[in-house]
Amino acid sequence: MALKFVSADEAASLIKNGDNVGFSGFTHAGCPKVIPTAVAKIAKAEHEKGNPFKINVLTGASTGDKLDGELTRANAINFRAPYQTNNDLRKAINQGEVNYVDLHLSTLAQSIRYGLLGDINVAVIEACDVTEDGEIIPTCGVGISATVARVAKIVIVELNKWNPKEMRGLHDIIEPLDPPHRSALGVFGVRDRVGTPYIKVDPSKIYVVETNVPNEGGSFAPVDEVTSQIGKNVANFFIKEMREGRMPKSFLPIQSGVGNIANAVLAAMGDSKEIPDFEVYTEVIQDAVIGLLESGRVTYASGCSLTVSNECIEKVYKNLDFFKERVVLRPSEYSNNPEIVRRLGVIAINTAIEADIFGNINSTHIMGTKMMNGIGGSGDFTRGSYVSIFVTPSVAKDGKISSFVPLVSHADHSEHSVKVIISEYGVADLRRKCPSERAKCIIDNCVHPDYREKLYEYLNNAPQGNTPFDMYNAFAFHKAFVETGDMHNVKWVEKA
Ligand code: COA
Repeated sequence: MALKFVSADEAASLIKNGDNVGFSGFTHAGCPKVIPTAVAKIAKAEHEKGNPFKINVLTGASTGDKLDGELTRANAINFRAPYQTNNDLRKAINQGEVNYVDLHLSTLAQSIRYGLLGDINVAVIEACDVTEDGEIIPTCGVGISATVARVAKIVIVELNKWNPKEMRGLHDIIEPLDPPHRSALGVFGVRDRVGTPYIKVDPSKIYVVETNVPNEGGSFAPVDEVTSQIGKNVANFFIKEMREGRMPKSFLPIQSGVGNIANAVLAAMGDSKEIPDFEVYTEVIQDAVIGLLESGRVTYASGCSLTVSNECIEKVYKNLDFFKERVVLRPSEYSNNPEIVRRLGVIAINTAIEADIFGNINSTHIMGTKMMNGIGGSGDFTRGSYVSIFVTPSVAKDGKISSFVPLVSHADHSEHSVKVIISEYGVADLRRKCPSERAKCIIDNCVHPDYREKLYEYLNNAPQGNTPFDMYNAFAFHKAFVETGDMHNVKWVEKA
């Protein structure tokens, strides 16, 4: 049947106040751009007339500014899940204007199918191609597209010609059956493909909006001394693990988190002569992985998105045949699936905001209260991994904050899941260590020298049980920062 081609404004008018809207993509990669902007325009017009207009926004992960930014600035978001990285949205969340539910990314598609989030009224999917029989080829990110497109009553396809149709073949689209009918998800190796190259929906519910809009791919900060040293420490840890026989010499697939540190870690691994060529099983494929695929250091990469700079994606588009043989993009339910992560023995490397001296990790909240981004995929990978590593610079805010504290102000990953912590100072291998041994190991190897003595004071003066813990002083570092702007001014409370 012939597809219905409409304008962005016509398509946006299909989205109503209070709707649950599922958007494609993962990070800025693969996100719709013109429909959210058109919805924001409708919201502003309705607000000017005194009418309510807010929608509930569900996506694979964070999005670009044309989605989260535009909708937030139009005060058009009521509910948001499962992750975000946008400055304006972050402010709105922290001012209590948006209800934000921070979820493990692998769980969202199934939560939608289980009915935990209500019906999906509209799905908006960015595509490089769509056929009259309802095959939709995503662009650079997949996320929850397959699920929301299938269950939504209306599917709006942003057919973005900036992305070549030849991307067909890059994706592996599948949804698992739900319990009690689910069997093993058939990914037994990083390269296994188990689905179709397209999302298939009933064509009668598709509306197509043609666009030609570039990606919102920013660039990475150049590797500085601290991030480069963290990268080297990670690479040296792996070399030691291989030498001592705890890591197969053929190596294991790598998951690496988002941002500059993750990019620097991968670059350092690529530079190491002793680490063999390796595979990547991750959620976000960043610039460094593309370079390593070209040099042959990474032999295959499975992910959920190509979250790369525009310069980098243009390189990929010019050489699609090469990359289609070496890259697969999957739904987040597969790219981040803990069953697959544990089976493949994925090595998980994620970034912490703060860690405590016992190995608990805060990935999300500044000083325990302000949401930074969200847990993202870090929990999906950490718990099931072969070895879970967290990296962090030893200090933040020019040294006024120690990233290592007596007790994390918010806990995302517990001491039971976190096996290794690495800063620019060194590696704390927490395996086979009891809590007080872990504390000494972290202080000696990872903490900035300015804060070592203070943390030993806390440790030595705390009531000693299995875990030394002083309830009067556990947050003394945070208190010093909130009250004086510098954790160096920490003061201990005398016990009654
Ligand atoms: N206390 C207070 N603020 C801190 C801090 C601490 N202990 N540590 C870092 N910060 C601040 C930084 O100063 C910076 O603030 P700014 O934006 O005002 O400059 C901000 O937090 C981000 O720190 P930065 O060093 O730029 O980190 P990043 O870009 O490497 O991101 C995370 C780090 C943890 C925020 C990011 O990795 C994240 O969101 N992780 C959770 C999701 C995840 O792990 N996904 C990957 C799964 S595949």
